[in-house]
Amino acid sequence: ALPYDLSGVRVLISAGGTREALDPVRYLGNHSSGKQGYALARVAAQRGAAVTLVSGAVSEPGAPAAVDIVHVDSAVELSREMNVRAADSDVIIMAAAVADFRPVGVADAKIKKGAEGPAPIELTTNPDILAGLVQSRTAAQIPSSTVIVGFAAETGDADGGVLDHGRAKLRRKGCDVLVVNAVGEGRAFGTADNSGWLLRADGTETGLPYGSKTLMASRILDEVAALVPDR
Ligand code: PMT
Repeated sequence: ALPYDLSGVRVLISAGGTREALDPVRYLGNHSSGKQGYALARVAAQRGAAVTLVSGAVSEPGAPAAVDIVHVDSAVELSREMNVRAADSDVIIMAAAVADFRPVGVADAKIKKGAEGPAPIELTTNPDILAGLVQSRTAAQIPSSTVIVGFAAETGDADGGVLDHGRAKLRRKGCDVLVVNAVGEGRAFGTADNSGWLLRADGTETGLPYGSKTLMASRILDEVAALVPDR
């Protein structure tokens, strides 16, 4: 049986990928299927949490039972929906794959081929949602007790800098826990299984052995349950 250790804990989770519109029919996107974020939502709800899932584009069918779902497209929308709910959350988990950049403008009509070949796409930077949530917590717009978990998708392997990149990202973003996934070569994005490392703000690290995304979710939520203050 699952532990019922998240009873009454309000958990806000982002999942899936953002889509950054170029024109009415095209977008810049990524390969996130939403499976990892949806597994977190499902398992958290089964363990008694009150879960809100803010979902970008996914290829995972079916909403988890007993979870409130909000659908978004772009990183800017995701940012808004996370920020309005953050102050009422005990735990925030950013499993979404967020585009770092978006096109400067969205064309009103479908972009035509043109005689001179492809027009360059001009990009601008999206807000860093995770870092912003951590900053708002420091500024007390979000309770200081809110546990904030990030993910990191890094190409390479353990020796090839994945962990070093993860450590640097943990410091830069300032979250309590960062789950590092090695990606590329068919790993993590869209797969049924996952593996990685769990890095804590205190510098301790735990390997997350290869297994289903549900198992991965359980391990991450064990960590979260230990961090949520007694309530
Ligand atoms: O959806 P699946 O197919 O199951 O795959 C799961 C996953 C590989 C997408 C997931 O486990 C994962 O790693 N998600 C984070 C992907 C990502 O965007 O990593 P990143 O290293 O670019 O970002 C680091 C963290 O900052 C993430 O928590 C991300 O949500 C957040 N971020 C990133 C950019 C941005 N502008 N704002 C953010 O909040």
